[in-house]
Amino acid sequence: MQTRIDEIADGIYRFSTHVPDIGPTGFTFNQFLVDADEPLLFHTGLRALFPLVSDTVGSVVALDKLRWITFGHLEADESGSMNEWLAAAPNSQVAHPFMGCMVSINDLADREPRPLGQNEVIDLGGKQVRNIDTPHVPHGWDAHVLYEETTATLLCGDLLSQIGNGPPVTSDDIFEAAMQTEDMFQPTCFTPNTAQTIRALAELRPATLAIMHGSSYNGDCGKILLELAEDCERRRSASA
Ligand SMILES: [Fe+2]
Ligand SMILES: [Fe+2]
Repeated sequence: MQTRIDEIADGIYRFSTHVPDIGPTGFTFNQFLVDADEPLLFHTGLRALFPLVSDTVGSVVALDKLRWITFGHLEADESGSMNEWLAAAPNSQVAHPFMGCMVSINDLADREPRPLGQNEVIDLGGKQVRNIDTPHVPHGWDAHVLYEETTATLLCGDLLSQIGNGPPVTSDDIFEAAMQTEDMFQPTCFTPNTAQTIRALAELRPATLAIMHGSSYNGDCGKILLELAEDCERRRSASA
């Protein structure tokens, strides 16, 4: 396996590892680096992939410069190698929503995390990320996304995940592929708040969606998020 590197927006790097034996066409695990005075990593990746991924990230930014370790929610592919990163990047700290710190990360992380409030902005120096709590969207009590405001990039984690090994970033419609992936793995937790939470993300009108599995998207991001919100409503009423 190899981890490929692509710059999907100005100073936003995607590190993608395609694991061929998951699902019919394999599955990618992507990390994102926001390159700034205080570089930030979104998703740590699986522990098994840490040697490969950390080597590749280290070719873009020296690991002792890495300042922030972040992830969408507590889960092996999102946060599994959190402590390996804390050890390899001695100046880094985990930043995670207040609730997630209280419930899990205060105990699990080898160094004290920085709790993030709803809408709190971290100024990275040249880039700035806004924390948006999205509890249970698409899953996980502690779930959140980050919005990098200078490039309008929404680091949206598992939302709109696709199987296979598509291009690093596309403006082609990925909605059908994302819905097939939803049907296959059924990762989303449909609650009364799911659609409304996704609609609030659509209102940001992002220029790019940095997606954890599959291609990133730089088409009409507001529109595809609204389609996703509608689909969530459909699925919720169908199950009721
Ligand atoms: Fe997840
Ligand atoms: Fe994931």
